[in-house]
Amino acid sequence: MNEQQRKEMSQIRQGNPADVKSDQDNLERLKKKNSDDFVKYFQTTYETPNLNKARKRGKQDVKYHEDFTIPEELQNIGKGKKYLIRTYGCQMNEHDTEVMAGILTDLGFESTSDANDADIILLNTCAIRENAENKVFGELGHLKPLKQNRPDLILGVCGCMSQEESVVNKILEKHQHVDLIFGTHNIHRLPQLIQEAIFGKEMVVEVWSKEGDVIENLPKARNGKTKAWVNIMYGCDKFCTYCIVPMTRGKERSRRPEDIIQEIRHLAAQGYKEVTLLGQNVNAYGKDLQDLEYGLGDLMDEIRKIDIPRVRFTTSHPRDFDDRLIEVLAKGGNLMPYIHLPVQSGSSEVLKRMNRKYTRESYLELVRKIKEAIPHAALTTDIIVGFPNETEEQFEETMTLYEEVGFEGAYTFIYSPREGTPAAKKEDNVPMDVKKKRLYRLNERVNKYSREALKKYQDKIVDVLVEGESKNNPDVLAGYTPESKLVNFEGPKSAIGQIVKVKITNTKSWTLDGEMIEEAVEVK
Ligand code: SAH
Ligand code: SF4
Ligand code: F3S
Repeated sequence: MNEQQRKEMSQIRQGNPADVKSDQDNLERLKKKNSDDFVKYFQTTYETPNLNKARKRGKQDVKYHEDFTIPEELQNIGKGKKYLIRTYGCQMNEHDTEVMAGILTDLGFESTSDANDADIILLNTCAIRENAENKVFGELGHLKPLKQNRPDLILGVCGCMSQEESVVNKILEKHQHVDLIFGTHNIHRLPQLIQEAIFGKEMVVEVWSKEGDVIENLPKARNGKTKAWVNIMYGCDKFCTYCIVPMTRGKERSRRPEDIIQEIRHLAAQGYKEVTLLGQNVNAYGKDLQDLEYGLGDLMDEIRKIDIPRVRFTTSHPRDFDDRLIEVLAKGGNLMPYIHLPVQSGSSEVLKRMNRKYTRESYLELVRKIKEAIPHAALTTDIIVGFPNETEEQFEETMTLYEEVGFEGAYTFIYSPREGTPAAKKEDNVPMDVKKKRLYRLNERVNKYSREALKKYQDKIVDVLVEGESKNNPDVLAGYTPESKLVNFEGPKSAIGQIVKVKITNTKSWTLDGEMIEEAVEVK
């Protein structure tokens, strides 16, 4: 590849939505010139996630785009065809899937849950731990015969794994039946990318190292009519030393408050009963809005006044959880008394090595303040065990912190080294069987505390937002209390999508059983 071609390709990878047309022209030109070089380029010069560079990233050059449209000539490319998207990972990915589904619907595609029936299959991937990645590679293997039998099938890989150089290289080398790879910053380019994949001969790879702007007005095919995800910000600048997310999702950038509020008002008008505000670190909301002194507390204070019964948010970083937010949450109303507050470790020393920027003591102090202001709030957390060189004493500190806070639930993980993160470069003297034993002990504690927290609900009457039939028994309905406790109960199908009163008759380790005591109460 000559210097000129390299420069052109670099523009493609660094492109932004305003350059979409020129990107496409470049791509066309380059592919015509030398299609082998196109693939080789990504094998040889794709940039590795660079932490130092990422840390220096500026907030000022985020651009807002309100002008997403599907070019007329692409509006029917999906007519008579079906799509399937498999989603891995967190709520951010689930919501991205809704956006991609919205775009595909606008292109004329219909959805299917049967891979044999699909004309396009997208794997929206997660890179957070090694086993998340292994699942995707396993699935790519399973899908190979399908692709071999139906060469017209478009098989795409997107999401966080696509932002990793090693993954792109592995797909290029070992999974050449993949037709399309794109990342987290160019979802809005899906119409053009699909066109490329359908009409071109080469694997289409478009991953932007540019950190992404904020694109409004993207279509969304939401999953369900009761609960909705609402992005309030993208990316993460916290750089916890174990975590790949700041590399896969780019820098923190907040949506404008007016856009968020408008979206929630619209959802309320459509009859949605619950919104969850989404971001990797929602407590940093607003920090990058240079013209505004505005944070998550201010945003919640406005959302509180919208006529929607339930508002939640995820995920909170303890470091940025400020008094203003606590004060607003204490006002209650539609702000649900449930806070997921990942602690990761109970040892200040380990927290320091994780670059979490708080200590055991300051975390406990934050919990004290939250409990004082919102005594009925349920707290849950995320914990990593077996971080490199975690000692037995340090692990014990996690166990005692769990008790001191009295968490009502936790997601617990064994540390998984991620290429390109600082922790992955550290030697680790903790053997895997020790890590597993620690996880087991921690989980015993988590189960015990969950069971005890649920016991408090015996014979109580709770409001349940009914989501649908229970997974295991279609005669049983399932929904959540304000504190996010799952309740199973017998009731009429007409209760689905409503908030109903349920009396708790039995409590288990993770769920509650109950009976409905009245039908469809209108709750404001
Ligand atoms: N932004 C969220 C977390 C997103 S990832 C937050 O900071 O709270 C969800 C959870 O995955 C994290 O809280 C952490 O507990 C876990 N996790 C992240 N990277 C991990 C790794 N390399 N190994 C094991 N667990 C990890
Ligand atoms: Fe990862 Fe930390 Fe950002 Fe959460 S706050 S996404 S754990 S870097
Ligand atoms: Fe996974 Fe990406 Fe979410 S790495 S946890 S899907 S932000």
